[in-house]
Amino acid sequence: MTADEALTGSEKDGLYKAIFSRRDVRSRFVDREIPDDILLRILNAAHHAPSVGFSQPWNFILIKNITTRHKVKESFVKERERSISMLDGEEERQKRYASLKLEGILESAINICVTYDPSRFGPFVLGRTSIEETGVYSVACAIQNLWLAARAEGVGVGWVSILANKDLEQILAIPPHVKPVAYLCLGYVSEFADKPDLERVGWLPRMDLSNVVCYEKWGVHQSEPWSALCDALGKMKSRREDNI
Ligand SMILES: Cc1cc2nc3c(=O)[nH]c(=O)nc-3n(C[C@H](O)[C@H](O)[C@H](O)COP(=O)(O)O)c2cc1C
Repeated sequence: MTADEALTGSEKDGLYKAIFSRRDVRSRFVDREIPDDILLRILNAAHHAPSVGFSQPWNFILIKNITTRHKVKESFVKERERSISMLDGEEERQKRYASLKLEGILESAINICVTYDPSRFGPFVLGRTSIEETGVYSVACAIQNLWLAARAEGVGVGWVSILANKDLEQILAIPPHVKPVAYLCLGYVSEFADKPDLERVGWLPRMDLSNVVCYEKWGVHQSEPWSALCDALGKMKSRREDNI
C-alpha cells in the first residue's frame, strides 16, 4: 500500500459508519453466542492497535463463567451504592443516576477484562520514558479498536467502570504488577441506539465540536489563519441546531 492510498468511498463509509453508530450497550443484549471466528477477528483488531514503543502491553481475559460474573456483579452493586451516596444532597441527580442501567454483566454473551502489563518486554519501553501513562493509553487504543470492530460485526460492547479494581484483581487472579483497565460486556443486541443512552435521558448533552477545538493555544476558539475551518465548524453547529 502506498502512503497516498486513501480508502475507497465505500470503505470510508464503513469506517465512519462504525465510528458514528458505535454505542455503549448496557441493555438490549439478545441470547445469542458470539461465534469464535468473529470473536477472534474482534480480538485481533484490538491486538493491532498502536502502542507506545510497540510494547503491546494488553491482555484480554475472556470470561463466560457465570459464578465469576456474579462475583463481578457484586462488586458493581457495591460500587454503584457508593456512587449513589456521593450524590447525597443532590436528590434529583441521585434519583436519575439510580434509574440508569449501567452494566450488562450477566445478560451479555461474554465479558472481557482488558489489562495493562507495564513489564511487557522489560522496564525500558521506547517512548514511555517521559510519560508513564502512555502505557495505559495504548491499552485504551486497543479497547477502541475492539469496540469498533465489534460494531462492524454487529456485536455490542458495554464498558463497566463502576467496579473496584481490587475485586477484579482478586476474582480474576490478576498478578500485582498488572492493572485492570476495562471490564467489557459483549454480545449481539436487538438494536444500536442512534444516540448515547446518557444523551437520550438528558444526563449530559453532546458538546459541539467547535467548543473543544482550540487554535494554536489552549482556550483560543477564533483565529484568522484558521478562519475557513472556524466557519465550517460554525456551520456544523447551526446545522445541528436546525436538526438537519
Ligand atoms: C472509560 C469508560 C468507562 C465507562 N464506564 C461506564 C460504566 O461504568 N457504565 C456505563 O453504563 N457506561 C460506561 N461507559 C460508557 C459511556 O457512558 C458512554 O461511552 C458515553 O455515555 C457515550 O455513549 P456511547 O459510547 O454510546 O457513544 C464508559 C465509557 C468509557 C470510555
